[in-house]
Amino acid sequence: MITIRRMRPEDVPEVYEIEKSLFSVPWSEASFREVTEKDLYVFFVASDLTRILGFAGMSVVDKEADITNVAVRKEEQRNGIGRALMKVLKAYARDHGIETVFLEVRASNDPAIALYESEGFRQVGQRKDYYEFPREDALIYTLNLSEYEEPHCS
Ligand SMILES: CC(C)(COP(=O)(O)OP(=O)(O)OC[C@H]1O[C@@H](n2cnc3c(N)ncnc32)[C@H](O)[C@@H]1OP(=O)(O)O)[C@@H](O)C(=O)NCCC(=O)NCCS
Repeated sequence: MITIRRMRPEDVPEVYEIEKSLFSVPWSEASFREVTEKDLYVFFVASDLTRILGFAGMSVVDKEADITNVAVRKEEQRNGIGRALMKVLKAYARDHGIETVFLEVRASNDPAIALYESEGFRQVGQRKDYYEFPREDALIYTLNLSEYEEPHCS
């Protein structure tokens, strides 16, 4: 069974291992520790009984949130975990009066772009050469929660 819950300080070493395995410029272990300590950040982990499978988080200032991390273990990808984590972030934002959610993504990251667009995010800009290793543009996406309604099954 997979559950999603808030990230705790004891999750940090495992989260950092996943981060290092997926990104060429990973966040540091200290950065992850900081997000569990500061109210500015809201991070969730998806886990089964034995280990953390993925995580996602955002910084929140007033009525705006910025999704800074979304990651799922390589061998657990394409099982719906990334989408479940995005839905939890959106539900948290909605419940806490956040109106706009932003995120940035590498222009070549087709899996993440497909996930974000299918969760209602729309591209609003592009930052030239924003990323390194390899150098690449960032696409800026936003979701306006006051306008967006979660699709319902009939
Ligand atoms: C992006 C990422 C978080 C998606 O997580 P995931 O658990 O594999 O995604 P899900 O199984 O929930 O898939 C949700 C949707 O994302 C898209 N998607 C996911 N993997 C995809 C792939 N390999 N190719 C194309 N689309 C893909 C699809 O639209 C999918 O919906 P569908 O299964 O109904 O077609 C995961 O691929 C990942 O961790 N990548 C490496 C880290 C990263 O790039 N993070 C984003 C930084 S901005």
